Amino acid sequence: MAINSTGLQPSQGAGEENNRVQGAPALDAMQALASTMLRCVECLALYPAIEAGQSAFPMPRYRCDCGGVLDVEILFKHPDAQKRQTQDAFFFDADINALPESGAVWRQLFDERISSPPIWATSTDKHLLDASGVWRYRELVLPVPNHYVISRPEGNTALYPVGMENCGIGRIGHRQIGVYAGLDRFFLKHEGENPTGSFKDRGMTVGVTMANVMGAKAVACASTGNTSASLASYAAQAGMRGIVFLPVGNVAAGKLAQTLAYGATTVQIEGDFDDAMHLVENVCNELGIYLLNSLNPFRIEGQKGIGFEILQQLDWQAPDWLILPAGNLGNTSAIGKAFRQAYQLGLISHIPRIASIQAEGANPFYRSFNGKFTERFLVQAETVATAIKIGNPVSYTRARRVIEESDGIVESVSDTEILAAKAVIDRSGIGCEPASAASLAGARKLVERGIIRHDDRVVGVLTGTLLKDSKTGMPQGGSGSVIKPTIEAVRSVLAQ
Ligand code: F0G
Repeated sequence: MAINSTGLQPSQGAGEENNRVQGAPALDAMQALASTMLRCVECLALYPAIEAGQSAFPMPRYRCDCGGVLDVEILFKHPDAQKRQTQDAFFFDADINALPESGAVWRQLFDERISSPPIWATSTDKHLLDASGVWRYRELVLPVPNHYVISRPEGNTALYPVGMENCGIGRIGHRQIGVYAGLDRFFLKHEGENPTGSFKDRGMTVGVTMANVMGAKAVACASTGNTSASLASYAAQAGMRGIVFLPVGNVAAGKLAQTLAYGATTVQIEGDFDDAMHLVENVCNELGIYLLNSLNPFRIEGQKGIGFEILQQLDWQAPDWLILPAGNLGNTSAIGKAFRQAYQLGLISHIPRIASIQAEGANPFYRSFNGKFTERFLVQAETVATAIKIGNPVSYTRARRVIEESDGIVESVSDTEILAAKAVIDRSGIGCEPASAASLAGARKLVERGIIRHDDRVVGVLTGTLLKDSKTGMPQGGSGSVIKPTIEAVRSVLAQ
């Protein structure tokens, strides 16, 4: 299939039944998104969510005219707003004013959605949306008509209690994580349990839904592997062409295999992730392909689902700290934004402090934080945790706001610390990919430094599954002993 110069022309697959003008977003989507705006995080300029380009076709916008990245602003509208006559629809802005009375109304809505059977979708109707850990919160994510949504569904990942106190009787393995971190009340949110094995599916369902609204035929991203696997899966589902740019030699084999298997055109770049990112932005603008990196602000809206779901799993009792690995800084921006909005809506009574953890060899955000954000650093990234091997993070300004606003912190951990933490998570029976283990390594360090107290309530995010990277940090000895099928041979192995 050739890419034409207007990758955003005639729609394919999902959404075709809606009598849409070919290539232009349908009227119902335009109306639904009329009050959704894009705000420049640098100069605060405001743009509509969908802009008309030359001819009838929409022009996607990923940056402000000043070059700054954009942030989505949504008019939050409770589905029963008129009936209830409460003040639960307002624009999000920088002011933080909790509205406790509206919080109860929103909590009830989201709790009803999680409790109403059937959970298993038999068609792409309302239940599929409610079964998604992103679209369950749809009024806070993207107010688009339901029939445009492309969802697996995603989310609903486990929140494991792993602290010394809250791990549960008999869970000796999980308790080792709490012991290692030095935390009594510790939870791990395992985003590796998403359909393609990483948190990227949460942003991708919203990004590909937006591509569907725009009538895109082709979508693209640069990736260290997880975004590409996710894009490939969701593009395949929607009948769009997926095109991914990967830094050659720096993507775990399982992520590459997934991307190829889902049918994405896979291009390996002689360069690092930052080179691939620069290239894909130009490619998308030149060739009219819809860009699905987290530079695309709608991806961030989907990733907010991690934050909302954690809060709901904790019965809306916000934790003291949220710790996560940080590379391109999309997740830091998204989860921080979710907490800010949850507070603003009265869903929670305080905003958790965010701790973003970078690998020592890929820590430009940490360096800026140490200098009180007076300077933005670029580094030539190097770390065993290839998922976060990023030297020029796209979401720097969005994430900086999150750290400042939540009284957060940025920490840096060595590859040795990352691999040691991964071994603890793996041996506990939970398992994760190397980059994810930065959360535990960071938790341990921040407890040791006395910044996080041992009795604080802390949630760490595991961003990806153990399964995609079968090499990094794996126990020595490869695939175990090979023996003759006899009891004696087994005895001698067990005696070792
Ligand atoms: N953990 C994993 C497993 C990742 O794949 C990524 C990013 C991160 C953490 C960092 O998240 O960029 O939001 O700060 N992976 C991207 C990719 C870059 O292409 O898959 P971030």
